[in-house]
Amino acid sequence: MDTTVSINTNKVPPGPQTRWLGLPMLRAMQKDALGAGTQLRDDFGDAVHFRMAGQSYYYFFSPELIRELLVEHMDDFIRHERPIEVFSQVYGDNVLTTEGERWKRQRRILMPGFLPKRMAGYVGLITDATVDGLQASLPQTSGASTTIDVDSFTTTLTMDVILRVLFSHKATEAESRKAFDATRTLEHQGMRELFWPKTPPDWFPYPGRTEKLHAKAALKNLIQSQIDLRRQAAGDHAEKTDYLAMLLAAHDEEAQNAASATLTNEEICDNCMVLFAAGHDTTATVLTWWIGLMARHPEYAAKVRQEVEEAIGDRNPTTDELSRLKWTNASIKEAMRLYPPTPNLFFRRALRDVAIGGWHVSKGASINIPVWHVHHDARWYPEPETFRPERFMPNAPEIPRGAYLPFGAGPRVCIGQHLATIEMALVAVFLIRQFDFALAEGAALPKPKIDMVLKPEKTLQVTFTRR
Ligand code: HEM
Repeated sequence: MDTTVSINTNKVPPGPQTRWLGLPMLRAMQKDALGAGTQLRDDFGDAVHFRMAGQSYYYFFSPELIRELLVEHMDDFIRHERPIEVFSQVYGDNVLTTEGERWKRQRRILMPGFLPKRMAGYVGLITDATVDGLQASLPQTSGASTTIDVDSFTTTLTMDVILRVLFSHKATEAESRKAFDATRTLEHQGMRELFWPKTPPDWFPYPGRTEKLHAKAALKNLIQSQIDLRRQAAGDHAEKTDYLAMLLAAHDEEAQNAASATLTNEEICDNCMVLFAAGHDTTATVLTWWIGLMARHPEYAAKVRQEVEEAIGDRNPTTDELSRLKWTNASIKEAMRLYPPTPNLFFRRALRDVAIGGWHVSKGASINIPVWHVHHDARWYPEPETFRPERFMPNAPEIPRGAYLPFGAGPRVCIGQHLATIEMALVAVFLIRQFDFALAEGAALPKPKIDMVLKPEKTLQVTFTRR
């Protein structure tokens, strides 16, 4: 296997000659972003450059180039303004949408609640949500079966998990339904607006505006009402192990003055909004694909189940026990390799002229980091389309740094990665020890489709049979 990466010294990487201001290229990406990326890589290699609508675009497909960009040159790039504008119109100014000092301050204040040592405090909340979610949607009598839309199930479950982790709040059925519909509406609208040059102001009657504003108000009411309830119950914080308790008590040690040491009410609300959004659909997507893969590969489901039965039995697992489950974690990692929820990181924008792998990247250029393509590259993953959890078992050959990026890399790496890892393993433990999963006779997994995150193009139906 050739594992060399092509590093060139030519000024600008090769790429397609675009016609009509790049409109055909834009249309191809809108129609099939993964296919368009594959075509670029196959035709031009690890670094690609083209122009669209008067702008320079770069794609970097190799782990070295990506790490160079995200880690070594982190100060030379920001997240592209357009997707951030789309996000901040809904979720406000928060750790995901800000840059520079404003981002650094928010990240410092939010981070302690996501450190591995905080996870033990959340595990009880995640367990409660999982037990309730399985009871509500799946059969409870041995031998009984039900066939369900897996993604609706995992999304409702992870939404409940994040509400409990953030606020210790168990959502009512009506709240869950409302939040579910609102999230879907905002995702579809977000995907649509990404391809617009600008989102008009809220008073302008643009397509999808009314539904978007209703959905935004529904989520904001849900989140703000939880913060208000907590503030009214002053003095109660100390007993809570949830994220809001940490956030209300948080202080920025590096703050220049008292006012900037804590988050304002608005910042707390905006950050909780974005943690809710970023913290459930991604996790739901991984669990959806993992359940599909377990149904498709019963030989691996058996390995995971045996490990869980031996190590945990019927008990509720602790965070340490979860992190020691080799097959469980390897199968989840492999699901995230095949189906990374964020198949492209946010586009980056070059703040100044810079060289990446010897290639010239001009100030103002837009850069795509195509995670899905790196995860499906035979140089790092032999037989890349095959589900093979062994790749992530302790004695497996080392995977090059930068070739596995489900949570991104560099200073803007996912803030919730430890939480997501614990949550996904915990849900997997409960599911695998209670249920057998099966696809319909002869059915394959649906194709993936980018819908903000990487969802199944057609509904994934799986039959759950209670063991
Ligand atoms: C399997 C689940 C998850 C995946 C695959 C995932 C993926 C990612 C990725 C790839 C990024 C970086 C994007 C970029 O650099 O362009 C990111 C950032 C972020 N994630 Fe996650 N995420 C997951 C779960 C979570 C959870 C559970 C939370 C919070 C509760 C969360 C909150 C965030 C936030 C706030 C950011 C922005 C961080 C910053 O810019 O400083 N994510 N996530």
